Amino acid sequence: MENSLKNHIGNKVSNWYRCHGRHNLPWRKNITPYRIWISEIMLQQTQVNTAIDYFNKFMKQYPDLTSIKSAKEDDIYALWSGLGYYRRASHIFRAKELIHKDFNGQMPDDFDSLLSLPGIGRSTAGAILSIAFKKPYPILDANVKKVIARIFHKKKFNEKEFWHLSENLLDKKDIFSYQQGIMDIGAQLCMPKKPQCDLCPIQNNCIANELGSYVTLQKKKPKKKEIFLQFNLFSKGEKYFLSKNDALGFWKNLWIPPVNIVEKCNFDIVHQLSHRSLKIAFNEKVNIRPCTKGKWFSKEELKTIGIPKPISDRLLLNG
Ligand code: ADE
Repeated sequence: MENSLKNHIGNKVSNWYRCHGRHNLPWRKNITPYRIWISEIMLQQTQVNTAIDYFNKFMKQYPDLTSIKSAKEDDIYALWSGLGYYRRASHIFRAKELIHKDFNGQMPDDFDSLLSLPGIGRSTAGAILSIAFKKPYPILDANVKKVIARIFHKKKFNEKEFWHLSENLLDKKDIFSYQQGIMDIGAQLCMPKKPQCDLCPIQNNCIANELGSYVTLQKKKPKKKEIFLQFNLFSKGEKYFLSKNDALGFWKNLWIPPVNIVEKCNFDIVHQLSHRSLKIAFNEKVNIRPCTKGKWFSKEELKTIGIPKPISDRLLLNG
């Protein structure tokens, strides 16, 4: 495809965004590099609709880099409670420490500095640079990959090729609207099964649409390891006993009830992690003293600490 044609596609995307984009998403208002950074970390593994409440809550507590300066890692885990992929909370903690130590408390605005921060890879750096600093860097997240695969009718993902295509499509004259637009087209029109090509601004530039062959990139599905966990819910009046436990190899910084890892057991719920399928059983232990280290938490206190979702759902549902 010629360069002029690619520029034309980029221009159509940004025009479309200005009229039809999701301008109401909270991270698209009162834009600051900090707000874009936090939103992009949240959106790495979380759907837009779920991220909205978490983002608003985070911004209420830490509206900027100054207010987050003295936050402890646990404070950030508490705000992340229930969102999953908790390594992201640790990335934010470590990155804000570095921003204050090495970057004078300002979000860096160059690619290499951003890439040096925990949790920021090439695509997230591209999002921060283009959305917050209006610099023409490409993004290659799941939505952009999907749209590129369709425009160019690619069935297989080739990282180098897709980065190149993503870079070539950019509308450098309005990089902000282009980036938001391409992500919105991916999320709202370019659906896996029934794409809404008749509403799409680049329907005439899309080989998949021309062929009526709506390619989707094959995702490698990891074979998940099954883990059987028996959580012992020690309670005393309104309080529950929880501790931090890194024996599981995940949820290391979160508060959980004492747990046994067993070979197999009947379970109450299944909870999926990226590489593991957790089969979880709960045993109520009323007025029994646990023999491990930990703390007792009231219902109100449970809402202020980092707890994995299947545990907080169960504890806050009880009573
Ligand atoms: N996914 C990743 N970044 C996004 C953004 N800025 N808007 C919507 N979805 C996104």
